[in-house]
Amino acid sequence: MTTIGNYKFVRKIGTGGFSKVMLAEDIRTGEKVALKIMKNSGSKQGLYRKSLFENEVAVLKELELNTILKLKGSSPHELLIDPNGKEVDINYIALEYAQYGELFDYVAKGEKFSEKTTRFFFNQIIKTLEYMASKGYSHRDIKPENLLFGSDFTLKFADFGFATKSERCTQRRGTFGYMAPEVLANKPYNPRKADIFSAAVILFIMTTKHCPFIKAEHGDKYYNLVMKGQLDKFWELHQNSNDGTEEFSEDFKDLINGMLQANPKARLSLDAIKNHPWMKGPMAKAEDIKFEFRLRKKILEGNIETTDPKESSQSSGCSQNSSSDSATNEDSDQSENAEMADEESEPLVSDYVSVVDGDILVDAVTWYCTAKKISHIKSPDFYRVNIKVDEGDKRANIEVNILRRKKDGKRAVEFKTLSGSKALCSYAFTDFLEFSRNHLYELFN
Ligand SMILES: Nc1ncnc2c1ncn2[C@@H]1O[C@H](COP(=O)(O)OP(=O)(O)O)[C@@H](O)[C@H]1O
Ligand SMILES: [Mg+2]
Repeated sequence: MTTIGNYKFVRKIGTGGFSKVMLAEDIRTGEKVALKIMKNSGSKQGLYRKSLFENEVAVLKELELNTILKLKGSSPHELLIDPNGKEVDINYIALEYAQYGELFDYVAKGEKFSEKTTRFFFNQIIKTLEYMASKGYSHRDIKPENLLFGSDFTLKFADFGFATKSERCTQRRGTFGYMAPEVLANKPYNPRKADIFSAAVILFIMTTKHCPFIKAEHGDKYYNLVMKGQLDKFWELHQNSNDGTEEFSEDFKDLINGMLQANPKARLSLDAIKNHPWMKGPMAKAEDIKFEFRLRKKILEGNIETTDPKESSQSSGCSQNSSSDSATNEDSDQSENAEMADEESEPLVSDYVSVVDGDILVDAVTWYCTAKKISHIKSPDFYRVNIKVDEGDKRANIEVNILRRKKDGKRAVEFKTLSGSKALCSYAFTDFLEFSRNHLYELFN
């Protein structure tokens, strides 16, 4: 196993424009870190990489915030033996490991984010920019590949190679799709204003799952409309390019319009963004984000599929008792189910959906209960959650089972009243489906 300094390599986790990033373990403490490694060489490229290394280390030494990757260590020179047995001179930066990877993967491969979720992350972005500004810094390469997820899916700003304290820059830095027009046009620019522009592109992408334009210049069909001040046409064009199904709130459009202004002086400031009406709308809670993104991660890893649309249109919505076609309680033995079965209790059964393991639906139920402050106990052995609902003078003890249909292995959620009000059970069931629709994509369409 390769080691450099006090770090033992585990596996490769990323590649950037200039670096290779390895997951590694600190031999002294066992702590997992990300090692960002760059080759040293005397070539022009090598010297450029060296300047990025030095800059990133210097910047990270000055920044300390939970939404910025922590610097754990660095070395300007180490010798690494390559696969051909040759010695290679490298430098490395040891960083806090962001275990859930890039925001990019979640927006590129998953469902678009709800407004509440988008607001949660956008708020973290703005707070981080505000903190950086308080330390005099701009990032200059904000993009979904450089925004990572740490434990509990907290956003982590990464890649500070281009970060600067300068207030007037002349070198074009960043990534085309996120660059402000003045940067793209090679004009001197204020990097804080350029960061705000990039943040708007991210905001747009999180909500829509596509880019607002290719490049912020006249030749771009979309951005040209922004430059000409024809913002209504810009939004119309986006709406039409997506079958007209996309709906953008007036507040959302207004915020984006203000941040994408071609004239940096007219572009919204961080304060103006914070006070914008869109920012005051409902925001997901950290707890919801944790649950939602654990599920998203499972989808990314191919462990879950969303509902087959044909299937869901056939078995309509929250139809009662549609489970009878040889469904079994997931993982629990059938004889026990038979004992518990009670004709009178009229179990309520959701649509059958394709998920690889029943845990996902158990997660969905516990997520719902946590969000609604409903007391619940998860069975350690079965795919089952017992919940107690209280509403005014009514009470219900409900058993929630995850069913599995034999013919195709699809699963559903069943609510069964053990005691108390059946009406309340029915209400909780409908409320759960509604909650899942809003938070779990099209699980129960
Ligand atoms: N601390 C980290 N934890 C997990 N993954 C990381 C970490 N740092 C970097 N990566 C991964 O490596 C990629 C490249 O790292 P980055 O710092 O952006 O390098 P570059 O400057 O070469 O673009 C990131 O996009 C990300 O996928
Ligand atoms: Mg990068």
